[in-house]
Amino acid sequence: MTNYQQIQQTLKNNPYCWLITGVAGFIGSNLLEALLRLNQKVVGLDNFSTGYQHNLDQVKAAVGQNAWLNFKFIQGDIRRLQDCLEACRDIDFVLHHAALGSVPRSIENPILSNENNISGFLNMLVASRDTGIKRFVYAASSSTYGDHPNLPKVESIIGQPLSPYAVTKYVNELYADVFNRCYGTQSIGLRYFNIFGPKQDPNGAYAAVIPQWIAALIRNKELYVNGDGETSRDFCFIENVIQANLLAALTNEPKAINQVYNIALNERTSLNQLYTMMCELLIDKFPHLHNHQPTYIAFRKGDVRHSQADISKAHEFLGYEPTHRIDQGLREAMDWYVLHLS
Ligand SMILES: NC(=O)c1ccc[n+]([C@@H]2O[C@H](COP(=O)([O-])OP(=O)(O)OC[C@H]3O[C@@H](n4cnc5c(N)ncnc54)[C@H](O)[C@@H]3O)[C@@H](O)[C@H]2O)c1
Repeated sequence: MTNYQQIQQTLKNNPYCWLITGVAGFIGSNLLEALLRLNQKVVGLDNFSTGYQHNLDQVKAAVGQNAWLNFKFIQGDIRRLQDCLEACRDIDFVLHHAALGSVPRSIENPILSNENNISGFLNMLVASRDTGIKRFVYAASSSTYGDHPNLPKVESIIGQPLSPYAVTKYVNELYADVFNRCYGTQSIGLRYFNIFGPKQDPNGAYAAVIPQWIAALIRNKELYVNGDGETSRDFCFIENVIQANLLAALTNEPKAINQVYNIALNERTSLNQLYTMMCELLIDKFPHLHNHQPTYIAFRKGDVRHSQADISKAHEFLGYEPTHRIDQGLREAMDWYVLHLS
């Protein structure tokens, strides 16, 4: 039995109370579904700035009415300490995922990113400290590696941030660390590398590449590649992220706590390869793709050229073992998008 299977078993027999911030978003709603399936009690906090009621509705439909009764939703804002305090009441574990994602968004509006991602984060840490939660697990980011050329990325070596978003995510790590030193708060940061999967928003100017491209391919719309297509990423399916969150929340290893971990696959896929993989998966259902061609446009400001994670720390300390490689993840994600977009 893997560590993850053991933890799932433990959870089924021991319901805890979890708070997921950003619960109406992509990662938050997937975490919610996984926890409700494991008979957990969950409180969710969201202000619907980039998340959707329909994500929550889909979780409800997936888990059924009985499990849904274990969920309480609070429409609130992490920029208000009072909302954070209310949400943290009687909680065992916080999975903090509320933030404004997207590098370009932060370049356009750094103040808004700062308010949500730094002030909001600080409020959540204070509320977690003051309500005595057991552990604070939070979404950190591979953007923290900034301009450092090392590949694969190891947690201890970072460069200069390349965007306001990257600054906010790095400051999160600094605050989490200092809260441990000053107040003894237990935290674990998960540096996510390009996560994808069902319920990730395909629409809008700040959509991530995978859902944006799937939507363009299904709808036979123009598909834009930033740069020459040889930019590469360590794309990671959502199931691996769920695993990482549960392992981080429940580990009893003292040396595993108050750390940050890369969460990805330690694999690199170029945008050109990604485009080909997606077309191959969709072409039988959408014959218009025989004539589809991507449109290459300028490189995007703030983007790093290559990204790949060394995941040995998460493996060694948490027992993290990704269950889904990119092709399997894409296949599962594709089924969901075909159902919901076509
Ligand atoms: N998706 C990725 O590839 C990726 C990579 C690295 C880090 N992350 C981080 O993971 C977390 C979740 O990302 P996601 O992809 O699910 O994004 P998302 O936009 O789908 O979800 C974020 C959720 O947070 C909510 N939110 C934002 N500001 C809020 C506020 N002030 N108060 C309450 N709720 C608020 C939004 O409404 C949304 O539901 C974020 O912290 C993001 O920075 C994501």
